[in-house]
Amino acid sequence: MKALVLSGGSGTRLRPFSHSMPKQLMPIANKPVLEHVLENIRDLGITEVGIIVGDRAPQIAEVMGDGSRLGIRVTYIPQEKPLGLAHCVMLARPFLGDDDFVMYLGDNMLPGGIKEVAEAFRTKRPAAEVVVHKVSDPRAFGVVELAPDGTVSRLVEKPHTPRSNLALIGAYFFTPAIHEAVASIEPSARGELEITDAIQWLVANGAKVRASEYLGYWKDTGQVADVLECNQTLLADLQPENLGNVDDFSDLGFRIRIEAGARVVRSRIDGPAVIGAGSIIEDCHIGPDTSIGSGCTLRATKVRDSIVMDGAEITGVHGLHHSLIGRNATVGTGPTGGSGHSLVVGDHTRIEVAA
Ligand code: TTP
Repeated sequence: MKALVLSGGSGTRLRPFSHSMPKQLMPIANKPVLEHVLENIRDLGITEVGIIVGDRAPQIAEVMGDGSRLGIRVTYIPQEKPLGLAHCVMLARPFLGDDDFVMYLGDNMLPGGIKEVAEAFRTKRPAAEVVVHKVSDPRAFGVVELAPDGTVSRLVEKPHTPRSNLALIGAYFFTPAIHEAVASIEPSARGELEITDAIQWLVANGAKVRASEYLGYWKDTGQVADVLECNQTLLADLQPENLGNVDDFSDLGFRIRIEAGARVVRSRIDGPAVIGAGSIIEDCHIGPDTSIGSGCTLRATKVRDSIVMDGAEITGVHGLHHSLIGRNATVGTGPTGGSGHSLVVGDHTRIEVAA
């Protein structure tokens, strides 16, 4: 079996970050979402992985390389425009050949893994086996309706009046039967070739489509609040480790990982928290629920419930919370003097300050 990971897309919901980085590289517990995805795929015993990439391809290739670091072999498949999930399957046909494959959205986190679903697909080998998850408001999702025998009887994309609460989430198993389906459908009203339509085509043409429910934690990391929530959830399972340098005047709580070369001076860290390689933390109070990337410098700062990405500098800011600070960003008290704020704010940025 092969894997097809979708890491193109436009990422409009994750602006401003998606202006400068692909959302699939957003760090969760200091590891890109895409790396979590590829590890999950490797855990299924799959080594041949095709990755669909858009105009951020060079950044993705720089981080993931040929996949050997993760024990897989990566083939990059360029997609000029995000024309839909089924369009990705079409583009990948030469890579996929006539093999079965799992299609996995590169911005979706299923930390519980999908081994049971893969097992069910391998044993029963329906034309498609979709992964579903119960959601409270299915109207924003592809919704799956089941027949009494448990097979999928209908799929509807974003229904006004959903007839089930089972939403399609980021992973799908297919036999080569899907190729005829994606070639037979038309673009939807939003101009995309929808995978939901392709799977519905299989159902309508008498192919067997099954659904497996994923019971673990699932998150589509498409928006800032989702990224922060997902980070918090993954940090809760962090393996504590100290590979850095913590001075005698610092105070560490539980479930803290300090990566190689990080320096913690006169600071307090409440876990769960991770401090990235080579970062400097001086006179700070960090955590809980906080990830600091690598090469960051934080001085006289109090931050919790946040992600600070690689190379960021924060000085003299107290009470930073529920924040996502981008790579190499600078946040601090500047030399302007007096009261008020001095801001250099890029497009689509959101800043909330105390009145
Ligand atoms: P989405 O999150 O549905 O789409 P998007 O990336 O365009 O995001 P937004 O709605 O915020 O603008 O895509 C799910 C995953 O599939 C994501 O990892 C991007 C990827 N994708 C492709 O690779 N090619 C495509 O044509 C589409 C639509 C998505």
